Amino acid sequence: MATPDDLTAVDVMDRAHHVAGPPHALFSRLRSACPAHAVTGPDGERFWSLTRDEDVVAVSRDTETFSNHRGGIFLHPDQVAPLDFLRQVLLFKDPPEHRKYRKILASVFTPKAIAGMEDSVRATVTDVVDQVVGAGRCDVVRDIAVPVPLRVLAGIMGLPAEDVDRLYDWTHQIERAQQSDEPAGATQVFGEMVGYLHQQIERQMAEGGDSLVTRLKAAEVDGESLAPEEILTFFGLLVFAGNDTTRNTAATGTLALLQHAQWGALHDDPSLAPRAVEEVLRWTSVVKYFARTATQDTEVAGQRIAEGEKVVTWFTSASRDGDLNKDPDRFDITREKVQHRAFGGGGPHLCLGNQLARLELRVLFEELPRRMPDLALDGEPEYLASNWAHALTALPVRFAPERA
Ligand code: HEM
Repeated sequence: MATPDDLTAVDVMDRAHHVAGPPHALFSRLRSACPAHAVTGPDGERFWSLTRDEDVVAVSRDTETFSNHRGGIFLHPDQVAPLDFLRQVLLFKDPPEHRKYRKILASVFTPKAIAGMEDSVRATVTDVVDQVVGAGRCDVVRDIAVPVPLRVLAGIMGLPAEDVDRLYDWTHQIERAQQSDEPAGATQVFGEMVGYLHQQIERQMAEGGDSLVTRLKAAEVDGESLAPEEILTFFGLLVFAGNDTTRNTAATGTLALLQHAQWGALHDDPSLAPRAVEEVLRWTSVVKYFARTATQDTEVAGQRIAEGEKVVTWFTSASRDGDLNKDPDRFDITREKVQHRAFGGGGPHLCLGNQLARLELRVLFEELPRRMPDLALDGEPEYLASNWAHALTALPVRFAPERA
């Protein structure tokens, strides 16, 4: 399939396309005219941009042909931190090695264990909302979407509540490094965070009792268990994978509900919350892409891809593909059987935290409309100009203050 002239020079990775949210009009043109689009990256190397759902899914599931380990999940191998370091992390492993770690971690992160967290997640959300509900105004990003996932994760990981601000600083700097032109810009921050997590794990091991650390230490699958340094890399991944993602979905999801006048419907019928969560996940699909490296010459959407070239699977575009859901550009929390790729393309790396993220989002979208029924925008939302994260840096809102 030849690239139409007006798309030849387009680089969908260019942050200029991402200053006001994901470039959905461009994604739509690429899906229909040029689903495997060759782009020359800043380092002069060619990569392939895949925007159709069927290709995103096929690549995500074929880990033999498309590796996370070989070149990492970002376009630049050393983005955020050096690839050799990142390769120890679950997300950067390929099967069969990936399978062993994933099984052990999944044995601790079970749906039953997550369901058992509902009361504590609700207590966290209630406490966070209590802090702002009397004021009549707040910034949804700073005051709600940031603290909820951070506090939930700190609780799960057994970290002291007073350290939440430090965790926020680290994750904030790492998020900035994902979209920085200085690839390994977060290496020092990573080092600091890993040092801190190391101390916390040692403390929890010495103290014993029931914690994620002791459960991970005891978990054994097919005679295999995790070494202490493997628990440490998993903790590092949790901080990175479980925070910004949930925060960005909570904030961009709140904005979508307000912009499409569906806050009131959610307030009037809270039983819509689980469906609203799926529609928000589809609509916002906040992890825009992952890259993988071809391990052999292959073909995708009629294009020859050479061994060693990177393919970029645009989850955000796949979630809006008309082959996945009818009328994909309509936001509607009453949709049934919503499908999306917010948690990936269904391969072995499918988001391990998806049940926890869904729980946090459901509780948020039950509690916020109940406590702030007339929530309305109070200024312009501000986007992070990132090609990787669909994120807001500010979402000012107003509401009738709740009387004490
Ligand atoms: C709305 C929130 C979230 C979104 C949109 C999201 C998205 C994703 C995506 C797109 C992937 C990669 C899938 C693939 O390559 O096929 C992933 C992997 C992962 N996520 Fe999430 N995530 C979210 C929340 C969480 C939470 C709360 C946690 C844990 C506390 C978590 C832990 C992980 C882990 C450990 C992986 C790596 C799995 C593997 O390599 O086997 N995520 N996530």
